Amino acid sequence: MKKSFGAKALIFPTPVWCVGSYDTNGNPNVMTIAWGGICCSKPPCVTVSLRKATYTYGNIMERQAYTLSVPSEKYVQEADYFGIASGREVNKFTETNLTPVKSELVDAPYVGKFPMVLECKLIHHPPLSPHESLSEHLTQKANS
Ligand SMILES: Cc1cc2nc3c(=O)[nH]c(=O)nc-3n(C[C@H](O)[C@H](O)[C@H](O)COP(=O)(O)O)c2cc1C
Repeated sequence: MKKSFGAKALIFPTPVWCVGSYDTNGNPNVMTIAWGGICCSKPPCVTVSLRKATYTYGNIMERQAYTLSVPSEKYVQEADYFGIASGREVNKFTETNLTPVKSELVDAPYVGKFPMVLECKLIHHPPLSPHESLSEHLTQKANS
């Protein structure tokens, strides 16, 4: 017998993805998201759902690009920190001693030490207040 929780956005598991972006001054930022997933194969697309209040949201709207760095277990603390601090107040790369790497394909940085990266161009952002879904990825990189 299942118990109903009502109409809620509850589904597990969720990913731990770190969204990299540049701000207007070219400073790198990274924020953690759990609301995201693969949403299309042709073209290959992912979706990430961001609150408009995040620093990252404004960065992506301006640069029309972002990266997704997937942390290994070793970086669980850094990934958590990326989700509680804001790039408006601190440089999260400096604070965690992690190096931002400029993507060669899109106008966004990724976390060099994380084992897997997607480099994404923004193609859609349907508003779903208070979140907005931003998609698509161009390439995928993984440590061999
Ligand atoms: C595990 C975890 C998952 C999160 N998932 C999301 C998410 O899917 N969407 C979102 O808008 N914020 C999410 N957050 C909150 C943002 O990461 C947080 O607001 C962050 O400080 C925003 O950073 P920024 O202002 O530098 O962009 C999550 C935080 C954590 C710790």
